[in-house]
Amino acid sequence: MMQKVRIEQISFDLTWRIRHEVMYPDLPFDSIKLDNDKEGTHFGLYVEDELTAVVSLFHKNDSYQFRKFATIVAAQGKGYGARLLEYLVSYVKNAGGKKLWCNARVSATGFYSKFGFATTHQTSVSKGIDFVIMELQLNN
Ligand SMILES: CC(C)(COP(=O)(O)OP(=O)(O)OC[C@H]1O[C@@H](n2cnc3c(N)ncnc32)[C@H](O)[C@@H]1OP(=O)(O)O)[C@@H](O)C(=O)NCCC(=O)NCCS
Repeated sequence: MMQKVRIEQISFDLTWRIRHEVMYPDLPFDSIKLDNDKEGTHFGLYVEDELTAVVSLFHKNDSYQFRKFATIVAAQGKGYGARLLEYLVSYVKNAGGKKLWCNARVSATGFYSKFGFATTHQTSVSKGIDFVIMELQLNN
């Protein structure tokens, strides 16, 4: 059966539940809120009207950073993250972005490299999780 999938911009507070349950379920709910959430552009992927994946986008001039990319656990590995990331890349291209980057969990680098993101040497550890900055050059 074909599932009805749509992606739309959502308000920042709608990202919080999925961020929390997917990324940091053991931390307090407030820990997944970002200081600058109000300044971001937030996207949600809906499957049959159920919010299933979220991502948040921030920019400084023509450099765009996405944060807190998450697909609900029961729906991972079904291609929804790929659809949302493709949407995000075209959104940033259309906005004139020159670079799209993220501070990726090392466990997710394989996902981003499928879309052409290159790893950098900028690594870090936060809350016991290893991160590496990954970037995609656009409109160059
Ligand atoms: C990473 C995440 C957002 C990917 O979303 P998803 O909806 O599961 O991804 P998709 O099903 O669209 O996967 C697309 C492709 O990437 C691959 N992939 C997905 N997650 C991967 C991972 N962690 N490592 C390597 N490859 C991965 C899939 O196997 C698939 O490959 P295919 O096209 O060859 O079949 C999701 O797994 C998630 O929320 N993980 C936990 C939170 C997290 O780590 N977020 C990222 C923080 S930087």
